[in-house]
Amino acid sequence: MNAQGRTRLNQTPEWAALGKHREQLGDTHLRELFAADAARGGRYTLQVGDLYLDYSKHLVTDETLRLLRELAAATGVAELRDAMFRGEKINTTEDRAVLHTALRAPRDAVVEVDGENVVPGVHAVLDKMRAFSDRIRSGRWTGHTGKPIRNVVNIGIGGSDLGPAMAYEVLRSYTARDLTFRFVSNVDGADLHEAVRDLDPAETLFIIASKTFTTIETITNATSARAWLLDGLGGDESAVAKHFVALSTNAEKVGEFGIDTANMFEFWDWVGGRYSYDSAIGLSLMIAIGPDRFREMLDGFHRVDEHFRNAPPEANAPLLLGLLGVWYGAFFDAQSHAVLPYSHYLSKFTAYLQQLDMESNGKSVDRQGHRVDWQTGPVVWGTPGTNGQHAYYQLIHQGTKVIPADFIGFAKPVDDLPHFLLAQHDLLMANFFAQTQALAFGKTPEEVRAEGVPDELVAHKTFRGNHPTTTILAEELTPSVLGQLIALYEHKVFVQGAVWNIDSFDQWGVELGKVLAKKIEPVLTEGAGGDQLDSSTATLAAEYRTRRGR
Ligand code: F6P
Repeated sequence: MNAQGRTRLNQTPEWAALGKHREQLGDTHLRELFAADAARGGRYTLQVGDLYLDYSKHLVTDETLRLLRELAAATGVAELRDAMFRGEKINTTEDRAVLHTALRAPRDAVVEVDGENVVPGVHAVLDKMRAFSDRIRSGRWTGHTGKPIRNVVNIGIGGSDLGPAMAYEVLRSYTARDLTFRFVSNVDGADLHEAVRDLDPAETLFIIASKTFTTIETITNATSARAWLLDGLGGDESAVAKHFVALSTNAEKVGEFGIDTANMFEFWDWVGGRYSYDSAIGLSLMIAIGPDRFREMLDGFHRVDEHFRNAPPEANAPLLLGLLGVWYGAFFDAQSHAVLPYSHYLSKFTAYLQQLDMESNGKSVDRQGHRVDWQTGPVVWGTPGTNGQHAYYQLIHQGTKVIPADFIGFAKPVDDLPHFLLAQHDLLMANFFAQTQALAFGKTPEEVRAEGVPDELVAHKTFRGNHPTTTILAEELTPSVLGQLIALYEHKVFVQGAVWNIDSFDQWGVELGKVLAKKIEPVLTEGAGGDQLDSSTATLAAEYRTRRGR
């Protein structure tokens, strides 16, 4: 028992029961589990909204699942979930509510923070975004010279970039193809340079996306973008009002930067950066896909929110996925988790999930500030199939590591794919199913030998199999399905944080680097203060200055 009255996770009887069960499971192979239950492939499935989830290829039995649900009950996952939905300040280290779910709540919902219903405010901002998006899309919003806006450049970083940048790619087939969208995040000037070099400033809108409006990368890029714009438009400062809007919680800083706060789209401190692209942070996406499609996406999120809130534990998909991750981390020593979408449009999906998962659950002290002695968040990685198959899948199949993987695919190709490309979709999906099959069942030495492989090569050509995967299949990649997928992962991350007893909603671990960068910058530019640095950093700074010609 710790000071706050919660038994340490790995001292609970539920944890011990899982440990014992793991021992009993030993090396039981998925081949055996499937042989013992002919219905397993249909039984271990869930339908959540439009998502069909197959978890049959996991190293679990009914007993494992029961014990994992008991762990969830013992660690108060449902109670914390309900507290989150009620608007309680479950982000304790920042003393904030966690209410991204309110961003997609219907207009008539009531969600209170400090006694105030936040839903009307959410919809007021959505309405303002809608009106603005319509003006840009129709060409009615004109720039300083009277030309309509044709290019939209979102400047932000982390949650103020990854969400809209990812969703723009995912929903590209729904976007206004006559508009150009670019996303700038890196403080490396090359990012902004490449984004604007072929654009006409008179037709370009900059969306400065920053929750705090103090993030150095974003403010630096925004300042440079303003210089580029004024350069191109003859230096008239009044041009800024027509070409810059802000997405932020910080009206004061937005005003200080010189953006008219009438052109600011607000959100709130109860929205975490990595949970924010369904807030005003999604403005670039709304302009791209249109307000109606954006609403469909929000409704997709909401559908899974309701599922997470109401589905019983046995049929609760985020709970299940979260618990499976806990199982592999704790009892199989899995260090990483691969997310492998079989859709070109999901090329940035895993990068988005990296922030969502790793910034949320990359923690090593519990809510009470004690060091944890169990594994927390995994390294999340992956790229779209089939590319990965010709690169790193070798290690997943035959390496020494346990890497649970999510395979995400769609039954139909996107609507606007030309007819001569349609047949490729079946080939793509054949690869998808083949990989999960190969990972689960492998190929035994006997099977290899039966193919006439010489003895000395049998071990090399054997596939151990028994690699756990989740399959997530949807009919089509729509805005709603994207919302459902993201909400599924958001709540999965929530479940894991709740079980591990960590605060999934702070991110103190990013602070130190920011502070040190501020101290090092003058050493690089002016050469002063190197003696305050450790000998490695001081030497590197000196070497850098020499090579930079200073
Ligand atoms: O430094 C990390 C972080 O705070 C993320 O959590 C956030 O998404 C990102 O920086 C950007 O922050 P902001 O939107 O305030 O510019």
